[in-house]
Amino acid sequence: MSDIQQPTIERKKRVLSCIQPTGVPTLGNYFGALRNWVKMQDEFDCFYAVADLHAITVRQDPAKFRQQIMETFALLMAIGLDPEKSLLFVQSQVPAHAQLSWLLSCCTQFGELSRMTQFKDKSAKHADNINLGLFSYPTLMAADILLYQPEYVPVGADQKQHCELTRNIAERFNSIYGNTFVVPEPYIMKTGARVRSLQDPTKKMSKSDENVNAFISLKDDKDTIIRKFRRAVTDSEARVYYGEGKDGINNLMEIYGAIVGKTMQEIEQEFEGKGYGDFKSAVGEAVAGELTPIQERLQTLLGDKAQLEQLMRTGAEHASYVAGRTLAKAQKKMGFYQFK
Ligand code: TYM
Repeated sequence: MSDIQQPTIERKKRVLSCIQPTGVPTLGNYFGALRNWVKMQDEFDCFYAVADLHAITVRQDPAKFRQQIMETFALLMAIGLDPEKSLLFVQSQVPAHAQLSWLLSCCTQFGELSRMTQFKDKSAKHADNINLGLFSYPTLMAADILLYQPEYVPVGADQKQHCELTRNIAERFNSIYGNTFVVPEPYIMKTGARVRSLQDPTKKMSKSDENVNAFISLKDDKDTIIRKFRRAVTDSEARVYYGEGKDGINNLMEIYGAIVGKTMQEIEQEFEGKGYGDFKSAVGEAVAGELTPIQERLQTLLGDKAQLEQLMRTGAEHASYVAGRTLAKAQKKMGFYQFK
C-alpha cells in the first residue's frame, strides 16, 4: 500500500428551501429565510425553489399568480442568490415533486396532518375552502425536501413543525423500505426567525395580513417603510430596552439588530436617553437602506424576461435530474415495476 496520504474530498453539505409566490415577500421572509439562503450559498450546495404548487392551496388569481411566480423567481437573484452557485427553480416545473408527494402521503398518518398548526390556522382563515391540498400540504413539502437529499433546511420558526414531520416521514420510509432518504434538519437562525407583525406583535409578520401596516413588503418604498415603522405598535414606556412585555420594541430591536449587526445590549446603549420616535426612525432608515438596492436589482432583472425564462428552464432541468434520481430510488424500494 502506498504511504502517500490521499486527499479527502469532502462533499459540501446540501441545503434546500422554498418560498411560496403568494404576494410580495415580507421582511419576515427576508430575515427568517431569504437572507440566510444567500449567506449559505458559498459554504453549502444549495437548492432554492419557488413553491408554486403550495400556493394553490389558497385560491389564486391565474394572471396575477403567473406574474408572482416570475417575480419571486427574479427576487431570489435580486437578494443576492447567484444561479451559478445555487440551483434556483420553480417547483411545478419539476414533476417529481407531485409524484413523490403521492408516495409519501401513503406513509403519512391522518392524525399527524391534523396536528399541524398551519393547517388549523389556514382552515380557520379560509373556512369556505378547506381543501385536501391544504391538509396534505406537509407531505408535498416533505417531497420538496427529500427529493434533494439535503442535510439542512433553512426556514423561519413557523416551518419547524413541518420540518419535523418531514423527518418523521423520512425515518418511517427508511425503516419500512430501507435507507432511501437523508433525514434533514431544520436550520433556524437565532435572530430573525420570527419577525412579528408591526400592528400586533404577538403574531408573526405575514404577507396575507389584511392590515398593510402590519408588514413591510420587500417592494415597499422608503417613505412607506418609514411611515409603517413610525406607526408600529409599541408600549407606553419610552425607554428602548429588550424585555418581557415589550413585544413591539423587542421586535423592532431584533429587526434593527439583524441589519446593523448589533446585540440587544448594544442597541440599548445606542438609544440611551432617546425616545421611541428616534428609535423607530432609525429602524425605518436601516430597513430602507437594506431593501432599496434589492428593489433596484429586481427592476433590472424583470426588464429581461427572456433571460429569466432561460434561467428558469435551466434550473428546472438540473433540478429534475437530481429529483428524478431520488424518485426512481424511492419507487424501486417500494416495488414499482421499472423498465431495465
Ligand atoms: P413561506 O412562503 O410562508 O415563507 C418562506 C420562508 O419565510 C419564513 N417566514 C418567516 N420567518 C420569520 N418571520 C416571519 N414572520 C416569517 N414569515 C415567513 C418561513 O418560515 C419560510 O422559511 N411551507 C413553506 C414553503 C415551502 C418550503 C418547502 C420551505 C414549501 N416547500 C420545503 C422549506 C422546504 C412556506 O409556506 O413558506
